[in-house]
Amino acid sequence: MTGRPRMIIDCDPGHDDALALLLADHLADVVGITTVSGNAPLTAVTANALGLTTLMQDDVPVHAGAAGPLSPGDGQPRHATHVHGESGLDGVDVPSASSPAGDDAVGFLLEASRRQAGLWLVAIGPLTNVAAAISRDPGFVGRLAGISIMGGSTRGGNVTAAAEFNIWADPEAADVVFRSGAGIRLCGLNLTHQLKTSAALLDRIHAMGSARSTLAAQTVAYLHDRMLALTGEAAAALHDPCAVLAVTHPELIEFVSRPVAVSLSDPLTRGMTVIDERFAGRNGPNQALVAYGIDAPAAFELLLESLAADR
Ligand code: RIB
Ligand code: CA
Repeated sequence: MTGRPRMIIDCDPGHDDALALLLADHLADVVGITTVSGNAPLTAVTANALGLTTLMQDDVPVHAGAAGPLSPGDGQPRHATHVHGESGLDGVDVPSASSPAGDDAVGFLLEASRRQAGLWLVAIGPLTNVAAAISRDPGFVGRLAGISIMGGSTRGGNVTAAAEFNIWADPEAADVVFRSGAGIRLCGLNLTHQLKTSAALLDRIHAMGSARSTLAAQTVAYLHDRMLALTGEAAAALHDPCAVLAVTHPELIEFVSRPVAVSLSDPLTRGMTVIDERFAGRNGPNQALVAYGIDAPAAFELLLESLAADR
């Protein structure tokens, strides 16, 4: 027993997912990884997760999950390949790895929570697997220490004016999760954009020379190129690492308890997290600890520490 948080990471690697996995490997005990269609199709994100585990300290089992959202909606695939590329990790030499330990992520989540009470679930992709686990076993959330989510925002989206990608990709799933009564910590875009990479950070990563830092340097350099093309700024918000730090280093983050709802039916705001800031200290069924601020210098130092260690 190391006293470090024990967690399962549900992800869609994804460049920022990759950095989050290496950060979690350094700061926590990662007992499993589940994958979900998101940044790229399920087969791609699962292959990426498997490759990333070869750089992690322990042998972490990877279980593939949902290949699409709970409700197919218009049937259009919901990916972010314009950011992450068709592979989900374009520009990165991802180590090749074996096949996943299983293809029933939901079954793995439920079984792991029964075997080890007090696990954290860090959800950094669309919430399809998480919602399916809650629907299959309502007792699931009560066995967890909590769910740390990268998703949503207190103000504005990145896929539409209102919706952030992880929530937008499966709003019905997000609605199930926020209504579940789980202990939720929510890092939205309002928070993650306070943790933006820079050329100076990339130089520090380049200078480290470990296998992890080499992959991280490729990851950040690729994100800088894509963000320059998409936004005019060669800097990337480190979204998913925030959800890891919300568990391992909550003292670095300013949280406020707020009710969080998800817009489902209005086409203009579908996938928006509606966060009610009118009343302090309310306690409703959709309550979550919503992140508003982060000690970015301290967070970057932890990220750099996580890249120095070689497996
Ligand atoms: O909106 C940012 C989120 O969408 C991150 O989790 C990123 O990896 C993408 O999945
Ligand atoms: Ca992600």
